[in-house]
Amino acid sequence: MDHIDVKNLSVGINDYVILRSVSFVVNKGQCVGLIGKNGAGKTTLLRAMQGLSPYSGFSNIAKLSYEERARLVAWVPQIHDIVWDVKVNKLLEFTALKFCRNAGHAEETISASLSSTNTVQLAEKNLSALSSGELALVNVARALCQNSDFILMDEPLANLDPRQKSTLILLMKALADQNKGIIFTSHDMPAVETACDRVIALKHGALLFDETHRIKFTDARNREIFD
Ligand SMILES: Nc1ncnc2c1ncn2[C@@H]1O[C@H](COP(=O)(O)OP(=O)(O)OP(=O)(O)O)[C@@H](O)[C@H]1O
Ligand SMILES: [Mg+2]
Repeated sequence: MDHIDVKNLSVGINDYVILRSVSFVVNKGQCVGLIGKNGAGKTTLLRAMQGLSPYSGFSNIAKLSYEERARLVAWVPQIHDIVWDVKVNKLLEFTALKFCRNAGHAEETISASLSSTNTVQLAEKNLSALSSGELALVNVARALCQNSDFILMDEPLANLDPRQKSTLILLMKALADQNKGIIFTSHDMPAVETACDRVIALKHGALLFDETHRIKFTDARNREIFD
């Protein structure tokens, strides 16, 4: 699949509207920043477009079976609730063996995902023993093991130290250059400026703007988004 197509996606709970008729198409090869103030609807959008929570409207990835969707789209949620008592290597192996052609390909994929997320030194650690930033990076490594066309990430930079943040920004750009489609939410505007060739902004659950070029977050622009 070469694009994600979302049309008139809305989410409401009783009479409360959380997402208002949001539409966009994201192609492979794009690195898209999804921004907006707290409560704007970013997490709701990422979940609803994958069919992980109730919605109305259309998304071409929402109705796929879990397995079909996982081959196309890897999901890195903000809250990492993996507390299994297994080693990082094992988690990556579960994923890679499912999505890779054979054991050799799985081994290469695991090794590449550990090195590109700078987590090689964590491979033998138990998941339950990781710090929050380490766990966030391991979840990105796990997503890479799906070999999917698209990766959706909810605030992947939030718990990272400056060095690891740079690693992940460079990785997202590199993945887009390798023709993967990336959508990630962030409140880190300099990171979004550096990483993204497109920015989608939400305000009060509706699309505020969708700009397909590198954007600068001037004071006026930040007021438009965050006030
Ligand atoms: N299950 C729910 N029941 C009621 N309200 C909800 C529910 N889920 C989300 N909301 C509301 O919908 C709005 C959007 O929430 P969402 O988590 O999508 O925001 P967000 O843009 O991801 O914010 P943040 O930057 O803080 O992560 C918020 O006002 C939130 O309180
Ligand atoms: Mg959120």
